[in-house]
Amino acid sequence: MRIIVTGGAGYIGSVTARMLAKSGNEILILDDLSKGHREAVKGLDLAVAQIGDKNKVKQVCGEFAPQACIHFAAKSLVAESVENPLAYFQANLGGSMNILEALLGVECKVFIFSSTAAVYGEPKDVPLTEDSETRPLNPYGSSKLMFEQVLEQTARATEMKFVSLRYFNAAGADLENDLGEDHHPETHLIPRVIAVALGKEPCANIYGTDYPTPDGTCVRDYIHVTDLAAAHALALERLARGGESGIYNLGNENGRSVREVVEEVKKVSGRDFPVKEAPRRPGDPAVLVASSKRAKAELGWEPKHESLEDIVRSAWEWHKRHPDGYLT
Ligand code: UFG
Repeated sequence: MRIIVTGGAGYIGSVTARMLAKSGNEILILDDLSKGHREAVKGLDLAVAQIGDKNKVKQVCGEFAPQACIHFAAKSLVAESVENPLAYFQANLGGSMNILEALLGVECKVFIFSSTAAVYGEPKDVPLTEDSETRPLNPYGSSKLMFEQVLEQTARATEMKFVSLRYFNAAGADLENDLGEDHHPETHLIPRVIAVALGKEPCANIYGTDYPTPDGTCVRDYIHVTDLAAAHALALERLARGGESGIYNLGNENGRSVREVVEEVKKVSGRDFPVKEAPRRPGDPAVLVASSKRAKAELGWEPKHESLEDIVRSAWEWHKRHPDGYLT
């Protein structure tokens, strides 16, 4: 299949693009390289373009004539979205609509969307199912939810089918293809704690120890990046077979606390390091845990790296090999 992968030079995008290329698909990455890395897409075709550049997006889609699109390109920093909401709606809603319009223009009928657990906001109950209430707490989550609604309405009005994948906490590395997490700034827990274990930062911070959770720290559902990538391939297969559009949670259905993650990094790295208890980070829900039953039943998805140890170990190995990310 000819597949355009927007944001394919980013963390989850690059792992997914590589997996699909290896299974024989023709891949074109569209990425502005503002966050993504050229090194992560070596050997794959790359069009350097912003999704906000409507004419360029139209030109690239016109020339490549994709049969499917996987749309990762987005702004994804929660705190930044609170400070600058317009930039988030422009990129994640406006930019996404540019892609959608260009795809409709070339009769591309398969769209896989990179969504997020942030659409749920503060959950009333966990595990979260796709039917749980969606009340995003920040512009990042809102922009993703709004684009899901755009997709639903577009699918009703056209022949376009879509799958929206709501990721919980993406983590780990694809060691086989030497792809890992390299964000600037890095806000995510696992790479931040690993940076401390590597001696790049003085101490790990635990943001909030007074949450209503067993050890007082936030609980998240960490899911390995190659398991996420596999779900995209399955979603493509579903739509290519004529399956219906749908929305799916992707998580391990297993919550782990910040303290547990810090301990796991110590265990896997064999290194001890200082840990500071810091105030809560604004906007963090106490617990986010997925029910992924629907993805398992309808996509046939089975995560292979469920244990936190596997996830942390792969991240640790990658960061050890690349202490300065893709620069090393
Ligand atoms: N945390 C720390 N110390 C750190 C970094 C994070 O204690 O140095 C804590 C956070 O406060 C949070 C947990 O670790 O409780 C996980 O934080 P991450 O930043 O790794 O992940 P989030 O759960 O905040 O983010 C994920 C996705 C986002 C999405 C968000 C929705 O990565 O894309 O869930 O809540 F928007």
